[in-house]
Amino acid sequence: MSEATEVRVYEPSAELVRNAAVSGMDAYKALCAEAERDYEGYWARLAREHVTWQTPFTRTLNEDNRPFFKWFEDGKLNVSYNCLDRNIQAGLGDKTAIIFEADDGTVTRVTYSELLVRVSRLANALRAKGVKKGDRVVIYLPMSIEGIVAMQACARIGATHSVVFGGFSAQSLRDRISDAGAVMLITSDEQCRGGKNIPLKPIVDEAFGMGGCESCKTVIVYKRTGGACNMVEGRDVWLHDVLQGQADTCEPEWVEAEHPLFLLYTSGSTGKPKGVQHSSGGYLLHAILTMKWTFDIKPTDVFWCTADIGWVTGHTYITYGPLACGSTEIVFEGVPTYPDAGRFWKMIQDHKVSVFYTAPTAIRSLIKAADANEAVHPKSYDLSSLRILGSVGEPINPAAWEWYYQNVGGSRCPIVDTFWQTETGGHMITPLPGATPMIPGSCTLPFPGIQAAIVDETGNDVPWGQGGILVVKKPWPSMIRTIYGDPDRFVKSYYPADFQGRYYLAGDGAIRDAKTGYFTITGRIDDVLNVSGHRMGTMEIESALVAHPLVAEAAVVGRPDDLTGEAICAFVVLKRSRPTGDEAKQIANELRNWVGKEIGPIAKPKDLRFGDNLPKTRSGKIMRRLLRSIAKGEQITQDTSTLENPAILDQLAQTL
Ligand code: WTA
Repeated sequence: MSEATEVRVYEPSAELVRNAAVSGMDAYKALCAEAERDYEGYWARLAREHVTWQTPFTRTLNEDNRPFFKWFEDGKLNVSYNCLDRNIQAGLGDKTAIIFEADDGTVTRVTYSELLVRVSRLANALRAKGVKKGDRVVIYLPMSIEGIVAMQACARIGATHSVVFGGFSAQSLRDRISDAGAVMLITSDEQCRGGKNIPLKPIVDEAFGMGGCESCKTVIVYKRTGGACNMVEGRDVWLHDVLQGQADTCEPEWVEAEHPLFLLYTSGSTGKPKGVQHSSGGYLLHAILTMKWTFDIKPTDVFWCTADIGWVTGHTYITYGPLACGSTEIVFEGVPTYPDAGRFWKMIQDHKVSVFYTAPTAIRSLIKAADANEAVHPKSYDLSSLRILGSVGEPINPAAWEWYYQNVGGSRCPIVDTFWQTETGGHMITPLPGATPMIPGSCTLPFPGIQAAIVDETGNDVPWGQGGILVVKKPWPSMIRTIYGDPDRFVKSYYPADFQGRYYLAGDGAIRDAKTGYFTITGRIDDVLNVSGHRMGTMEIESALVAHPLVAEAAVVGRPDDLTGEAICAFVVLKRSRPTGDEAKQIANELRNWVGKEIGPIAKPKDLRFGDNLPKTRSGKIMRRLLRSIAKGEQITQDTSTLENPAILDQLAQTL
């Protein structure tokens, strides 16, 4: 039977249901009903039970200045205290907090007590360098214990961190330092991935050389490899030097619940990336709740989220959630295919991982590798420690879901297909492993308390079985608070006038199953692409292309890709005549590398084509729907009568 017609329902095992934090669908429904009855009371109860407050809050939700919502606003807390001190006070001081596995396989363990000392020493060092509450600190580090320590140290002193993914270019780094007005940057000499040492510090130097980073007075450099590293007198200091003589304890800065814990830049449909600003109290609450309910985290679990700390998944499910719950987690420096594509399975076996959270792209690439080589197939490893699997970042196609379920989870572990976004802070729509019957390809039902819905262009609910626009009808504690430095853009992007500012607009399309009401995400409804689970704005890539001296005009669209979900396809018009043959290939390569330098390698177009022009309407608007069809290799059956230059279509259909 084909994938489309067979709908299999996977029930959680009786044992899981019995022991789960949210045990059975009745328990799930009871939580939803509680939120329905008394929305604020529900979140207030959870915030009191799961977060440790230095000053308790008395007001739960303040909607006076909507959509700039405030949660628990008169409460005070410290996020690092919640992740470290309170676990140690509960007797977990000697428990392993982090098992770090380096690219070369070296394993380092850190206990909660040791982690607190490391965080405190760095926090003291940041204070000694003049970093104060509310200052922005950019972190440009590889996956490392130091990366987590740096984020937690910022949280400890109330500095707002902005982590920039280690794969971003000097230009992207510069833009983020400049937009945030960061006072400090923490980086490393190099990073190690796939058996190679990749310089990082030279990218920092290049970013500073571009100008615009004047606010940033100090660069702290973690010596990861000891490779050649230029240190700028008066600005750059080694991490091991600034830690010298720092005390092992550090009084946390008690901050208001709304205090910005971090900024994280993400692609939007227009212009430059936006600095999504998150709170402390509400964000932490959702990180904890989702760890407990979506991952059913237990004291004996070994948790592994394979994301990078440069993405939101790494923030919530590496740096904050697992530590706030006192769990033991794996932090992995390397890549899934080195030394071979069995790395994930070997690490699950070696460290007895019980909860494993990864992305569909990784699974799809590992399926391919396992098909080609039995030695790297999950069945060649002992994965019996696993009890729950998770997926994030993009839709997981049913075939990949089934493979993951059977071969990795041994047909015994539920898969939580978690839908959420940088802006939402944590899971929004997801199965709960001891409650929700699963249907491959569906992220199932909203997390208890999350008012997800599907509406039409005017904001009216559409019936189940009919596609529409995904919205969230009520504010929730871990939501984005604003776009740093651009509150208008925040309102326009997420609370648009289309819905009279009533609903949060996720930017995705979705449909609910006519019978079960289960949600399936149908993809972005804006000009944002999802390539291997990474968000890329088409406009950003177009701007990068037209910044090249040869390029007159460019249009970027996505097309479906078996491995990466979506692939970037760029249509380019040069200032000179349209190149052909080897010359076209050579220029295409040059442009690809250019985009890699402007944004980062993840933004390089997979498919790049040249035309004398782009398909435009008589009023000069680029017809993107035509480009999408061409990119897919479809015959053009659409109406092209409004097209100024129909002959261009044949030209653009030619791949290089
Ligand atoms: C997509 C990553 C389908 C979606 C946490 C969303 C998903 C964007 C899923 C956010 C999922 C994320 N099923 N699509 N389970 N999870 N997405 O900000 O388009 O990097 O809007 O956050 O990824 O990407 P972001």
